[in-house]
Amino acid sequence: MTDRYQQFTRSGLGRQVVRRLGLPNPTPLRRYAPDRPALDAPALVGGAGRLGDTVASVLKATGVEVAEAERYGALVFDATGIDEPARLRELYDFFHPVMRKVGTCARVVVLGTPPRGGGRDAIAQRALEGFTRSVGKELTRGATAQLVYVAPGHEAAVESTLRFLLSAKSAFVDAQVIRVGTLGGEPIEPGDWDRPLAGKVALVTGASRGIGASIAEVLARDGAHVVALDIPAQGAELSEVANAVRGAALQLDITAGDAPAQLVRYLRDRHGGVDIVVHNAGITRDRRLANMKDAAWDAVLAVNLSSQLAINDALLAEDALRPNGRIIGVSSIAGIAGNNGQTNYATSKAGVIGMVDAYAPVLAERGATINAVAPGFIETKMTAVVPLLIREFGRRLSSLAQGGLPVDVAETIAWYANPASSAVNGNVVRVCGQSFLGA
Ligand SMILES: NC(=O)c1ccc[n+]([C@@H]2O[C@H](COP(=O)([O-])OP(=O)(O)OC[C@H]3O[C@@H](n4cnc5c(N)ncnc54)[C@H](O)[C@@H]3O)[C@@H](O)[C@H]2O)c1
Repeated sequence: MTDRYQQFTRSGLGRQVVRRLGLPNPTPLRRYAPDRPALDAPALVGGAGRLGDTVASVLKATGVEVAEAERYGALVFDATGIDEPARLRELYDFFHPVMRKVGTCARVVVLGTPPRGGGRDAIAQRALEGFTRSVGKELTRGATAQLVYVAPGHEAAVESTLRFLLSAKSAFVDAQVIRVGTLGGEPIEPGDWDRPLAGKVALVTGASRGIGASIAEVLARDGAHVVALDIPAQGAELSEVANAVRGAALQLDITAGDAPAQLVRYLRDRHGGVDIVVHNAGITRDRRLANMKDAAWDAVLAVNLSSQLAINDALLAEDALRPNGRIIGVSSIAGIAGNNGQTNYATSKAGVIGMVDAYAPVLAERGATINAVAPGFIETKMTAVVPLLIREFGRRLSSLAQGGLPVDVAETIAWYANPASSAVNGNVVRVCGQSFLGA
């Protein structure tokens, strides 16, 4: 779907109107392409903590120069050494002189230690959240800011996360707090960082169109064999997606009583199990609660939550999720902020967050992980039918002042799926351009 306002702002007249009236001016976001460098300007690194070596080695491996410059592609600050509130001044000292030098679509990453216990170190570390979220709001021209809390002893495990954040793959992820190693997990380095999912089997539900089709594409690009699942009515589109990614099409309604058993049988018989399960299928049946039919409530809860729990339970009971496996949910910012006319949808999507919380320790014991993305406004058929005014609010009321693309959600899912992300467990990362809803 085209964002006509954004196109207008790129025209000569549009530029003038935007400047004169002080209207939102969304910068076209830089997105991943295999032949482009991870960042297009040098990085500046600061802070003194546990993660200096990991940061240096990731920047070196991804070909990013670390140097003083007039424009920066990234500012990375290791705040793990900040052990009391007075030392938060170190953030000011590092960032204040360079805030005007942050380049277009640049990345700010602050690294901390998960705040635990009642000490002053935990208070100082908790303060990093307010700092990072505010920096996200101050940055312009498509630049983003994130905070990554890395549990002590899991320094090496942050590599896949840094690679993701310090690249164009995280274009629409803004002002997020990510936790690495808080539930354990030993990273397994992929043989090839460009095809980290080689040899893996990935199931993607709702894969015939929209975000699901993009997830199938990105996971296949990263080397996975994709089993693309959708309802029989979507059969033709599903086959197209499956053929395009050289995967398999599986027509199945996930709410059918025997769907979990059928799915497990299919994955076992054909592939001996599954490595990555992406619960993307989702529906909306919007009405204010007073006007909502019970069938609309039931259908949304069944597709968006109950069927996913039943599939997880069947996979785990039958041991069909392989070691270092991944379960990935697709929540929504409606599940965090709530939304007028979407009580059923928001309930189901908040339930997906509950699913992550409940299963994360269980999967950690099996050496697997569960995480979710919570997309904001993404340009798809689902959002194309939203009334114009609400659609415009959805797009502009965010730090990046635009909707995201399905690929932005897919890239975030691919980061979770990476074998090196085994210490990334129990996270819900919003892919929303720092939407002001529920932030
Ligand atoms: N588009 C957005 O802005 C946005 C925002 C937040 C969250 N999401 C979530 O992202 C996911 C994908 O959204 P989308 O915009 O691509 O939607 P979409 O409607 O384009 O695609 C959803 C797919 O799920 C399939 N599906 C529905 N019921 C099914 C069932 N019972 N069994 C199997 N497949 C079924 C549909 O046939 C469809 O192909 C959904 O979970 C949605 O709630 C989307």
